[in-house]
Amino acid sequence: MKLNKVTKAVFPVAGLGTRFLPATKSIPKEIMTLVDRPLIQYAIDEARAAGIKEFIFVTSRGKSALEDYFDNAPELEAALIKSGKEHLLEVLKETNMDSGAICYLRQNRPMGLGHAVWCARRLIGDEPFAVLLPDDVIAAEKPCLQQMIEAHEQTGGNMVAAMEVPPSKASSYGVLDIGEDMGAIVRAKGVVEKPKPEDAPSNLAVIGRYILTPKILTNLNRMKQGQGGEIQLTDAIAEETAEGNVYGYRFRGQRYDCGSKAGFLQATVAFGLARPDLREELNGFLHDLISMQKAAQ
Ligand code: G1P
Repeated sequence: MKLNKVTKAVFPVAGLGTRFLPATKSIPKEIMTLVDRPLIQYAIDEARAAGIKEFIFVTSRGKSALEDYFDNAPELEAALIKSGKEHLLEVLKETNMDSGAICYLRQNRPMGLGHAVWCARRLIGDEPFAVLLPDDVIAAEKPCLQQMIEAHEQTGGNMVAAMEVPPSKASSYGVLDIGEDMGAIVRAKGVVEKPKPEDAPSNLAVIGRYILTPKILTNLNRMKQGQGGEIQLTDAIAEETAEGNVYGYRFRGQRYDCGSKAGFLQATVAFGLARPDLREELNGFLHDLISMQKAAQ
């Protein structure tokens, strides 16, 4: 199948991050740190690995720390050179974006994820594009978006990352109604945003990685209010299931819900243990902590 390459990605980062107050009173939640890198860096790295060249941030008030993070920092760089810490310049490299590769636009009112993506319509134009929700951090040998781009080369259309969740949790997600199950890829005959547990069509949940056709932006033009009174991306995708071109992709990897405190802590421990410079100390600490807790019971 001959498809346009996916080179643009939208990062909806306008949310208030209320679940992490008071921390998020003065820092964007996307700047919160897993080990030594902010959440947003993981999403950017994943997008870069998948061949994304243009990064579109949909932001809101109070998110300027994100813009500074991806900018050059001449004073910091000069200070590092002066103090003989040149090796840290290498660490900073991943935060630098080529001029024109990143752009920020504001969602002036919080009207939902669909609305946030719609805000980027003029920059996307008439091409397929990716959407990455930085709250969903996915540890995988092959980055999740890259797996999806490879699968998308077979299917075309719209593709969402998908993962089985316990039925009791399905109401926290967009949930796929499975039309045809082909293993890693499923064709969806419907998608429902945060259904009541008894209404969930399956337990295959949408995770925050999407490859979408520009038609989704046309669907969003109608500004149809959905679950919670918000303009839902899920609803714009669901409209396309009638055409048979919405696919779920069961990715390989471990997903952490860093939009929740428990998920964020789990990711912190897992990413810490994956780091050769921290593994031994952290492992020893966790081991002792668990033994102490067991003894105290
Ligand atoms: C959003 C989407 C939902 C999806 C989820 C994945 O919900 O609306 O369909 O399943 O991300 O993390 P949110 O978690 O922002 O409420």
